[in-house]
Parts: sequence; structure tokens; C-alpha cells
Amino acid sequence: MVTGYGNMLACDSYPARYRQVVTAQQKMSTILKLIADNLRLPAGTRHLKISSTLRHTEIFVHRDTPDNNPEIAFEFSCENQKRADAIMAIYPEGHKRAAVMPLLDLAQRQHGWLPISAMHKVAEILKIPRMRVYEVATFYTMYRRTFTGKYHVQVCTTTPCWLRGSDDVLEAVKENLGLEVGQTTGDGLFTLSEVECLGACVNAPMMQVNDDYYEDLTPEAVNEILCDLKTGKKPAPGPRSGRFAAEPHGEPTSLKEKPRVLVRALGVTCKA
Ligand code: FES
Repeated sequence: MVTGYGNMLACDSYPARYRQVVTAQQKMSTILKLIADNLRLPAGTRHLKISSTLRHTEIFVHRDTPDNNPEIAFEFSCENQKRADAIMAIYPEGHKRAAVMPLLDLAQRQHGWLPISAMHKVAEILKIPRMRVYEVATFYTMYRRTFTGKYHVQVCTTTPCWLRGSDDVLEAVKENLGLEVGQTTGDGLFTLSEVECLGACVNAPMMQVNDDYYEDLTPEAVNEILCDLKTGKKPAPGPRSGRFAAEPHGEPTSLKEKPRVLVRALGVTCKA
């Protein structure tokens, strides 16, 4: 028997591992055909779907501006220089460059956002090419390379949050602040970003304001939080639904009984 798969031909005289590859590919083709038949796709339709592209709100290329160019000197404050030294001390000799992320974060916390001269300073301290720092700073959206308001409001719109109403949350933020995604209020207080999963899906929908997570949000809760921030109050972070953390709403729904028997290591069994 001879079977064709792309450029590969296999026959009974081939080693068993080649025949296994072909068999697996044939099974996959059969499964895909069954799916296509079930979906009643027209012949020749490609089984390919893409989601819409969400463009990041900042360009990845630096352009000199009056408030962000290499001529503007950046120095760590005395206090932050000590912090930078402590951070670098964590990493062994020859691996200090691994401190690039915490040092960029430190620079951003000092300045409010991350100008190019702060990146140069980090490169100088770590004795690495500036390009290595640019690569990190442009890859992670946590680094803000343009002016950012005092409160950076990041609304998660990834699938779990979206299923739980993140569109309404985002609309509420836009309406309350009079902003579109990527914009900053005229008083420099708020910047709005739309972001991917922030790892709090179990408390969806959620948003992050600076270092705090606000979870189980509704449009009303969003308005309360933003109004508190506008008046200089610090709203309590965490879920707004009344639950403490990520436990079920209301009563527990499983594991409600006390275990009768404890099975301990080494096979020892005893009554609870
Ligand atoms: S999807 Fe929003 S936190 Fe994970």
C-alpha cells in the first residue's frame, strides 16, 4: 500500500514511525472532513477564522517630541537609585541585564511614564545596548512611552470579561470621562486603555487603575469608582459584588461536607 501526504510517501516497506505519521495525518483529515460536513461548508472553503485586529494605542516607533527626546536628561532620585542598586544586587554577576524590567518599572513610577532618556539611563546602568532596552519597553504594554494621566484606567475586554459585560464597562468609563481609548483627559488625571486579559477572569468584568484591580464591575460601580477618584478618594479595590475574593456568589456550591476520611501521605488512613 502506498499513501501520499504532501511531499511524503509511505508504504509498508517504510519504517513504522513514518507509517504512524501518515496514519495520524489521515485521522486528522477525516476529523476535519467530518466537521466540514457537519457545518455544511461549501466545497473549497478554508477552515480558517480570524478575529479582528486590536491595534495598540501607541506606535511602536519612537518619535522625538518636545517632552520626550534624548536631550532631556533622566536621573534616578537618590531613593530610587538605592532601590535600583538593591534590585541589581538580586542578580548574579554576568546576569545583571535581567534587571531591565524592574528598572524600567522603577523609572516609570518615578516619572509617571517612560521617556526615552529613562530607557537610555537603564541601558547605561546595566551596561547593555540601548536596543535591548527598546525591545523590552516596546514589547510590554505595561510600559507607557507617552504621557499618561495620574490614573491609568485599563479595561479588560478579553473573552471572559466580554461575556460578563466588559463592553458596558468600557462604555461607562468612556462616558464618565469623556474619553476614547488611548486618550487622556485635559486635566491630565485619567488615561484610558483597552487591554487583554489581566488574569482576574474569575472576577470578570474588571478593570485596573494603576496598581489596583476593580472586579465584578457594573456600569454603576464604574461610575462610583471614577467619581471617588475625581474627588481625591481612594476607592477600595477588589470585587464590587460583595464577595471577598473569588469564592462563589452566595453559598458554596460544592465541597460542602466535611471530609469523613483523611488519606495522608504514606498510605496512612484515619478518621476525621
Ligand atoms: S479576561 Fe478579563 S481578566 Fe481575564
